[in-house]
Amino acid sequence: MKPFPKKIVCIGAGYVGGPTMAVIADRCPEIEVTVVDLNADRIAAWNSAQLPVYEPGLAAVVGRARGRNLFFIGQGDGAKKMAEADLVFISVNTPTKTEGEGAGKASDLRYVESCAQFISEHARGHTIVVEKSTMPVRAADTIKRILAKNSHGGSFEVLSNPEFLAEGTAIRDLEAPDRVLIGGERPEPIEALASVYRRWVPAERIITTGLWSAELAKLAANAFLAQRVSSINALSALCEVTGAHVDEVARVVGSDSRIGPKFLKASVGFGGSCFKKDILSLVYLCEFHGVPEAAAYWQQVVDLNEWQKRRFADQIIRQLGAAKGKVAVLGLAFKKDTNDFRESAALDICRQLMAAGLEVVSYDPRVDFAEFCQSAGIARGMQPAHTVREALSGASAVAVLTEWEEFRSIDWASMSLVPNAVIYDGRNILDPEMIRRANLLLHSIGGRDSD
Ligand code: UDX
Ligand code: ADP
Repeated sequence: MKPFPKKIVCIGAGYVGGPTMAVIADRCPEIEVTVVDLNADRIAAWNSAQLPVYEPGLAAVVGRARGRNLFFIGQGDGAKKMAEADLVFISVNTPTKTEGEGAGKASDLRYVESCAQFISEHARGHTIVVEKSTMPVRAADTIKRILAKNSHGGSFEVLSNPEFLAEGTAIRDLEAPDRVLIGGERPEPIEALASVYRRWVPAERIITTGLWSAELAKLAANAFLAQRVSSINALSALCEVTGAHVDEVARVVGSDSRIGPKFLKASVGFGGSCFKKDILSLVYLCEFHGVPEAAAYWQQVVDLNEWQKRRFADQIIRQLGAAKGKVAVLGLAFKKDTNDFRESAALDICRQLMAAGLEVVSYDPRVDFAEFCQSAGIARGMQPAHTVREALSGASAVAVLTEWEEFRSIDWASMSLVPNAVIYDGRNILDPEMIRRANLLLHSIGGRDSD
């Protein structure tokens, strides 16, 4: 085995594979990094000025490395590269299964399996195969089984090296990670992969574990983060009926150095492509391996999140009552600074408001309105607005669902809402004084309603 990998191939030019390989290529100019994808349009976009993923800093990183030691190619050209590769990353999507055993919870490994098949057909010599996508614990068994069918006499090692980047901060997370996790069964391949990261990550931040611990740790990390949001959201409901304010409670709780202040912001509910999918995968694993009590515990994190979204929409529906009226939804993205709305709270909340017969107008600075409606299953009825002002015009209620900076400084007094309209601040970002001065009413998550 070569001690320092010289040629890397990554299968999957998606949200994780693209930025991760771009940073590796940028930081390791002597390593050739090739990213392969089935989707020709996506590859074309990675080779153009209009990258398929928006992330601050990504264009600069790609600009430095592309054509030098970073290449994006189609699957057809991938076979030759695969034969030369020392390290192959599997970086494809692992969505929740929609049919078969474990449907609705377990991760669908069909894309991972097809990658393993491709590697098995084309790899030669000794190849280290790295799980970069989030996988259920013991997924490496499946990969190894497929790799064993290799007909070129090749040998393989499988490592788990899950990615912890968050959307909007991907490049920062990759360039200065809290930790890099490498799980494996033997020290040599772990060392080979660690030697790549050590070019820019301090050695003490590279954690090595067994293979199964690494696979599980990634699910566990996302479950812990989501659990903090559900915990503070559970408290937000109690705050609303007791007069406590959830932001004050969070500040006190988070100032304990054992707990820490991050991920304690009450909200309309967490979204994004990872949290729900990964917790459901964890729930399925607990059930599958015979620990239903643990499954029920983690399931509750998702259930609480669903309840929080429903609870928020119910409050608006109750207030408007038979009078109906227009609701302005501000923010469709699952968090600020992204156009991603996968699992966004806005999907459920808009659907619920529409089902109650309310007129809904929405504004988001980045989300594609037509794609959002299609994904939400809203065929017609919801209206797009091109500005905050347009959305708010004539609204009886306003639902702030994403914490976009521009919403913090809305000049409420200059907007033409109906008198006594209620602003439902699902992110607790608005200044109560500004709302009061505009003669509007404020309902914040886990806060006291203004009279
Ligand atoms: C997450 C993990 O943070 C990352 O490590 C992992 O690799 C992928 O999943 P991401 O989905 O990009 O990243 O978003 P994140 O910033 O974690 O936010 C997830 C959701 O939780 C968002 O909807 C956000 O608004 C919500 N959230 C977060 C809260 O409601 N309150 C908080 O205090 C923090
Ligand atoms: P992630 O957020 O995990 O990066 P994405 O959905 O953004 O997930 O990207 C996954 C990418 O993997 C997609 O571009 C998809 O076309 C690609 N992909 C899936 N299966 C294969 C495969 N067998 N071979 C090559 N590319 C694949």
